[in-house]
Amino acid sequence: MPTLKCPSCDQPLSLEANTWHCDQGHRFDRARRGYTNLLLAQHRRSRSPGDDKAMVQARTAFLDLKRYQPLAGALMEKLPAEPDGDWLDLGCGEGWYTERFAQCLGAENGVGIDISKFAIDAAAKRDKNLTWLVASGARLPLFEHSMRRVLVLFTRLFTDDIARVLKPGGELIVVGTGENHLMPLREALYEEVRHSGFDASKFLDDRFSMIDSEDVQFEWTPDSEQELQNLLTMTPHHWRAKPSAKADIGKLTGQIMPAHFIIQRFRRTEA
Ligand SMILES: C[S@@+](CC[C@H](N)C(=O)[O-])C[C@H]1O[C@@H](n2cnc3c(N)ncnc32)[C@H](O)[C@@H]1O
Ligand SMILES: [Zn+2]
Repeated sequence: MPTLKCPSCDQPLSLEANTWHCDQGHRFDRARRGYTNLLLAQHRRSRSPGDDKAMVQARTAFLDLKRYQPLAGALMEKLPAEPDGDWLDLGCGEGWYTERFAQCLGAENGVGIDISKFAIDAAAKRDKNLTWLVASGARLPLFEHSMRRVLVLFTRLFTDDIARVLKPGGELIVVGTGENHLMPLREALYEEVRHSGFDASKFLDDRFSMIDSEDVQFEWTPDSEQELQNLLTMTPHHWRAKPSAKADIGKLTGQIMPAHFIIQRFRRTEA
């Protein structure tokens, strides 16, 4: 199990009777559900940072339909078949992908971190053997050069802290959306659709070198308005689009929907 770092004093934490504690006497209880909140009040910008309960529930309902299984499959092909070191899913949300990564990388040496306690509460239900933490990607409660692999799916890249916790030679896997992703949905929501695809290189520097980049594209047919509403609620379009446009997306039921993802892998350069 990866060693956790006390968010108050940076000393190692040890687990005793469902409480993580450090030598300085800082204590963090593990919730009955199996996750630990290591986000200190002074490091929170709001009372409930990150995705709210409705977004988390929508993501679970949509992902559990397995529409995005081809993406999970493409990612798992890039992972070793056997565990090869500690790993982190950063901004893991409600853990659908994390649970799948654990099948290759091992649950005992995996950490799922999200700033949303609703997300981590839901994730902890999926797999009790992973270490689930409420924490910020900007202040990872993990030690320098401790992670063999960091995965970041559809979440902001916290370059400095990822560079800090990755071992030299370790791997960063980033997933974002490509220009064709959910095009009919975006056309229904906006008068003008932006055409740029994601590129993690823009957020990284010479501490990372690109290994490869792969586009993953497939289609599926949403078969209910509820499915489309859940899909909308789990994406940033939830905040951006006009309420009148959002109310109207049921018309896309039964129509082909393209998915377009970009998987990029980077190696942490030897410093
Ligand atoms: C679009 S969701 C992706 C969730 C998951 N990776 C997935 O693909 O299902 C983005 C996640 O980033 C989390 N997040 C936002 N700001 C964060 C931060 N500063 N540190 C850690 N997680 C954060 C949100 O709470 C949310 O769960
Ligand atoms: Zn401490």
